Amino acid sequence: MRLLVDHCLMLAWTGIGAAVAYVKKPSLFTNPSAHLHWLLGIEQGTLLNRLKNPAAYLTVSSIAWFYLAVFAGFILYRTYTLFLKPLDWVGNYWDPIMGTDSRKPRNKNPGDMPPAFPNGWFRACDTMDVSNGQVRFEILFNQELVVFRGRSGRAAILAAHCASCKTDLSTGRVKGDDIKCPNSACGRSYNQDGVCTSVPDGSESPSSAHALRSWPVEEGNNHIYIYHHAEGKEPTFLPTYPEEIANGYCVYHGRTEHVISAHVAEMPENGPDVAHLNFLHTDFIIKSLSPLITHWWDATWHPGKTDEDKHCAYVILDQYIRFGKSIVPGTKIHVTVTQNGLGLVCLKFETPFGYIYAFESVTPVRPLMQKFHHLVWAEWRVPRIIAKGVLKALITQAERDIPVWNHKTYKNKPVLVKGDGPISVFRRWLKQFYTEANWDEVPEFTPRPQIRSFWLPHDDSSEPADEKPAKPALAAAAH
Ligand code: FES
Ligand SMILES: [Fe+2]
Repeated sequence: MRLLVDHCLMLAWTGIGAAVAYVKKPSLFTNPSAHLHWLLGIEQGTLLNRLKNPAAYLTVSSIAWFYLAVFAGFILYRTYTLFLKPLDWVGNYWDPIMGTDSRKPRNKNPGDMPPAFPNGWFRACDTMDVSNGQVRFEILFNQELVVFRGRSGRAAILAAHCASCKTDLSTGRVKGDDIKCPNSACGRSYNQDGVCTSVPDGSESPSSAHALRSWPVEEGNNHIYIYHHAEGKEPTFLPTYPEEIANGYCVYHGRTEHVISAHVAEMPENGPDVAHLNFLHTDFIIKSLSPLITHWWDATWHPGKTDEDKHCAYVILDQYIRFGKSIVPGTKIHVTVTQNGLGLVCLKFETPFGYIYAFESVTPVRPLMQKFHHLVWAEWRVPRIIAKGVLKALITQAERDIPVWNHKTYKNKPVLVKGDGPISVFRRWLKQFYTEANWDEVPEFTPRPQIRSFWLPHDDSSEPADEKPAKPALAAAAH
């Protein structure tokens, strides 16, 4: 909408400029080539002469030409950004309590929330954020980390502070595949597994006491993924993405990021909360048209049923456009959503232009602070403007959820009716991402003992029966 207003304003100013120029100097329009010659300095002296005596050349026509040239430049730039350049946008979301800065610390009642940092794969940053030989500082899971890429191209994540004097390694340098501490007095090096490979004068071989904690890392889909487990255990599943991205069939179209003040489980809980779609997300993307045009949603959610996909959950979603109360024919968009652990989601949109993949990720930075990231790929034949439009629409819809997430507290046993959707099934599915050790990661958020036991995996047979999903199970993969 802001883009539309920008263009309208620019057009209005151009119209006024052109009208003034026409009234003052009609020949500007009837004989433009004479003015172009003048502008280019072909007939009336060189550019140098004009710079020496600008007042003599400052006429209505020269100003009007300059104005039109600026507008043409603006149109060219907009064409480039809209149709050719991938979107790269950090959301400046305005919140009634937090203002424009969601990073501002805020006293929020955490409620009965499960541990702040569940086990599983999360997005650490994007591939393009760390090129060969580069180092990047990140705070994830309340820990200060360095993400770096060795000269061989492999990315690694280590604890940020050197084992000796705690110098921040993000200010250090990559040498080969190792990272070297910048502290010239003692300058240790660490390999990608966090093992100290050299000490200052080589007098001693470094012991395991010099090692740094390292995290399992995977890379693909333009993401660098990190595996978090409170007990440091190895991953039991992997981040997945469609084959068409790995083999170059799909084209990258952009990314966005927001910071959210909520527990990490709030975002995936939107999946089973299907009832909220036809309440919170019905306004049309161009909000001023909403009295006439609205979205309509038809969705089902269910968790993975087998050992291979029990860490997954699926949403099948159909979106329609309604004019008044009637569905507009041909506006259905079918979306298959695959949740992979709590941190990663793949949405496949089937549009008349081809299919579009949107990847949504949520990564805990601190308790009640999440990085919420979207990234879009599309089949090669989908025009960039369409893929970016889908990303923009997705973000507009997500920004309708953000105030809800930012302001709600957490209740471990919500009072539900059947129409609320399978939220209690989701809450039980969620328990697989926790062990006892997750409670001890952020002691100040340790809740009362009975809540702690609720969130640990246990025999569910005494709990009420699940709400049945309305539709049967569907294919496990997003592709
Ligand atoms: S602080 Fe890094 S080697 Fe001493
Ligand atoms: Fe939502």
